[in-house]
Amino acid sequence: MDIPAEVAQTADFVVVANRLPVDKETLPDGTVRWKRSPGGLVTALEPILRSQTGAWVGWSGVPDSADNPVVDGLQLVSVPLSAQEINEYYEGFSNATLWPLYHDVLVKPEYHREWWNSYVEVNRRFAEAASTVASEGAMVWVQDYQLQLVPKMLRMLRPDLKIGFFLHIPFPPVELFMQLPWRTEIVEGLLGADLIGFHLPGGAQNFLYLARRLAGQATSKGSVGVRAKFGVVQVGFRHVRVGAFPISIDSGALDATSRSKKIRDRAAELRRDLGNPKTIMLGVDRLDYTKGIDVRLIALSELLAEGRVDPRDTVMIQLATPSRERVDSYIKMRAGIEQLVGNINGTHGEVAHQVVQYLHRPVERDELIAFFVAADVMLVTPLRDGMNLVAKEYVACRSDLGGALVLSEFTGAAAELRSAYQANPYDLDGVKDAIVSAVAQTPDEGRRRMRALRRQVLAHDVSRWAESFLGALAAANDVATGENRS
Ligand code: ADP
Ligand code: F6P
Repeated sequence: MDIPAEVAQTADFVVVANRLPVDKETLPDGTVRWKRSPGGLVTALEPILRSQTGAWVGWSGVPDSADNPVVDGLQLVSVPLSAQEINEYYEGFSNATLWPLYHDVLVKPEYHREWWNSYVEVNRRFAEAASTVASEGAMVWVQDYQLQLVPKMLRMLRPDLKIGFFLHIPFPPVELFMQLPWRTEIVEGLLGADLIGFHLPGGAQNFLYLARRLAGQATSKGSVGVRAKFGVVQVGFRHVRVGAFPISIDSGALDATSRSKKIRDRAAELRRDLGNPKTIMLGVDRLDYTKGIDVRLIALSELLAEGRVDPRDTVMIQLATPSRERVDSYIKMRAGIEQLVGNINGTHGEVAHQVVQYLHRPVERDELIAFFVAADVMLVTPLRDGMNLVAKEYVACRSDLGGALVLSEFTGAAAELRSAYQANPYDLDGVKDAIVSAVAQTPDEGRRRMRALRRQVLAHDVSRWAESFLGALAAANDVATGENRS
């Protein structure tokens, strides 16, 4: 690995994530541009890293790239992946084994030994890169399911480091996790950390059980709280803390931007461009089968067919960022979504009025905020989602107390956003009723709900998330108080 000498062992704070916060893009004239990477992890960590001096270790999103640029004052350290590793470690083990396994086996996980071998090898390389840039006693924060072996590998290389790990997706029920042929290695890999964080107490509890059963370690037995009452696993002389830290967004910044005249004007313009419909519904997702984009389209299609929603004064906008486009299940899902969009427009649209507006591309941040401000009903209907930041972003953008949020019970966000119109995404009638209630809410009811949602989102922002995690990490392995000792 090619890490410049001036970077060696200089960073006091290191983020290690599968992706760098920016993806490398080479333009036709050969010039290189770095553009924001997709997904919630970057949305959450970007504002935190901006306020720290540190390094971010990750992959540039393209094969065999070893650039280590400084972007916005942040030292980026590339871990190059070959085309074969992208296929086996990223598309294979990370996104066709672990992703579906951790998301309720919505599609069947594939177990291939060569994918596992590649996962081990790439995790080893990430651990080496982190060990090269971290200063003596530095804090290293490893992110997400792609890198679950890094904590143990890094501890073996650098026992002086404080190592935290955060999982951005759900941690599955024990019965599902037990399918994984390499289940013990994963649990032991995570136990190399001083602190392991999950979004919800349920994930932390699942992990504690597995640490007892698969790794044979003594663990605390009491229930885990939110940002408090951590679980403990005794690993030799070390105490590994296990906690729940629901991730969030930079709510204050979004709130401020969404109030600006530029955004308000653009939202009004979007509404005009759509023909001033009575109701604008909005979906914003990576194009992923976990997100339940099909659920909301089928619900809309039935509501239109039953005459409960009027196609002449309704528009649904679906913004879908391309994601993992070479993985089979994503290819199939995209075809299914596009067919549903075509069916709805073919059946209920007019030449001058499409009921569903579908954009298969990421939109700029300010444009996205204008969409949030313009939308009367936000549709967030995943079949399973670790948190779902989009739901929180919508709420943060509604200082006018307008709009309504329809939210799947199977998102992490549902535990906090109790005043949303919540529904079980497997119960289509329940989803349809939630949509109809959201469309028909009185202004008073809408304001009451949005006020309660905003109280939650503005008080629990991403800096609170990071502070609570990093505070618990700093205190880890000191004689701990407030923990559930068995
Ligand atoms: P995930 O991490 O699974 O992608 P989240 O909802 O937690 O899901 O985070 C997604 C992030 O990506 C949010 O910050 C959201 O605003 C952003 N995003 C999703 N779709 C788009 C899109 N079409 N254009 C721009 N940003 C998007
Ligand atoms: O939060 C889930 C997650 O997989 C992140 O780890 C990742 O940054 C994001 O979604 C986008 O996925 P990908 O990096 O595979 O495009």
